[in-house]
Amino acid sequence: MAPHVCPWWAAALTIDTPFRRLLHDPQKIVGPYVEPGMTVIDLGCGVGWFSIPMARMVGAEGKVIAVDLQPQMLEIVRRRATKAGVVERIQFHHCEKDRLGVEAEADFALVFAMLHEVPDQDRMLGEIFRLLKSGGKLLLAEPPLHVSKRAFARETAVAEEVGFRIVERPRVRWAKAVLLAKGEEV
Ligand SMILES: C[S@@+](CC[C@H](N)C(=O)[O-])C[C@H]1O[C@@H](n2cnc3c(N)ncnc32)[C@H](O)[C@@H]1O
Repeated sequence: MAPHVCPWWAAALTIDTPFRRLLHDPQKIVGPYVEPGMTVIDLGCGVGWFSIPMARMVGAEGKVIAVDLQPQMLEIVRRRATKAGVVERIQFHHCEKDRLGVEAEADFALVFAMLHEVPDQDRMLGEIFRLLKSGGKLLLAEPPLHVSKRAFARETAVAEEVGFRIVERPRVRWAKAVLLAKGEEV
């Protein structure tokens, strides 16, 4: 059965809530990996919970590529980013289910609560691997109720098969998370 994709209208109502503000502080979760001037990709960006804070973190010299399957999500991010004064730092990309079709040499990629919705995870992770510079990092995080321990171990194993190495397993509230890197440790 094809994985369920969270519809845009449900996401718009549930992804940005006071409860989530308590759990998922973007500064704590991605702040350690995002620096001014970086190119970062937010895959399955939803309503921009992380895209907009990351646009602040990369500064005027950096860039965020916000990618989503649902154009309505991208429109919401565009609106919110305009209001936040960071829309110029964000490139919006509408992708296909199994093909991102993005051209980039990114320093950091975020896949938060998205991979379990993708039918061909092998292909998706391979594409993300190619989009990163050598030494680039990917933070993969999944929600605990949708993704079991075993399913997350499987996703991590697929990431290793496409070439990623595990750097660490950061503690993220209400999520299973792993930080991966492209290339050897230096
Ligand atoms: C549960 S939401 C999470 C959104 C965001 N990452 C966050 O943490 O707030 C999952 C998002 O992934 C998107 N998505 C699902 N499958 C996708 C795919 N194959 N390619 C790109 N985006 C996808 C959905 O449209 C939705 O916006």
